[in-house]
Amino acid sequence: MNTIIAPSILAADFGRLAEEIKAVDQAGADWIHVDVMDGRFVPNITIGPPVVASLRKTTQLPLDVHLMIKHPEQHIDAFARAGADIINVHVEATTNLHRALQAIKALNKKAGITFNPATPIDCMTQVIDMVDLVLIMTVNPGFGGQTFIDTMLAKVSQARHIIDQSGRQIHLEVDGGVTPKTAPLVKNAGADTLVAGSAVYNTADYAAAIAALRNA
Ligand code: DX5
Ligand code: ZN
Repeated sequence: MNTIIAPSILAADFGRLAEEIKAVDQAGADWIHVDVMDGRFVPNITIGPPVVASLRKTTQLPLDVHLMIKHPEQHIDAFARAGADIINVHVEATTNLHRALQAIKALNKKAGITFNPATPIDCMTQVIDMVDLVLIMTVNPGFGGQTFIDTMLAKVSQARHIIDQSGRQIHLEVDGGVTPKTAPLVKNAGADTLVAGSAVYNTADYAAAIAALRNA
């Protein structure tokens, strides 16, 4: 299967978001990765459901919504209604992960579970029947442009093993510090979906940047 490339709009020009999304859509992006931050789960603040609803009108590509917010279960409905296709919750952000995943599935959305660098992935096994995507953070969430943490490669391999054992169709996504240099490493470890903020939006040619990641 072709590697899925999901440009993160965190590195886009927020004053020209619609154009920036159309540009990566035309440049060959597969998904649009939307980073939602609340200033509590992570130090930074970004956007909420109204912006997602506006983005929904600009592209047909799947919106991969990464919730870096505390108590994500309180906002799942709003993001689903805004037009998210995939809703990723951090396992560290809720004491009721199973319930959060149930809520996402009940809204007929794809459910993702996301792990911070220091978080073990043991709980994957307990919820695997509800999960459509596993997102391994390869930086500490909150900001774009950080350095890839290469000890995460072992975790990606471990997640790949659990997914293969399950026999289910589950995407294995990585997020943070993904560049043409680190992309081959995560692919070899078993990732099939790459989020990239600066490696796409901080370049002059989005199509070349996306192709470089896909073919790395
Ligand atoms: C970080 C976000 C990422 C971020 C990645 O908290 O979840 O999606 O945009 O940015 P780069 O690709 O620049 O590391
Ligand atoms: Zn993200």
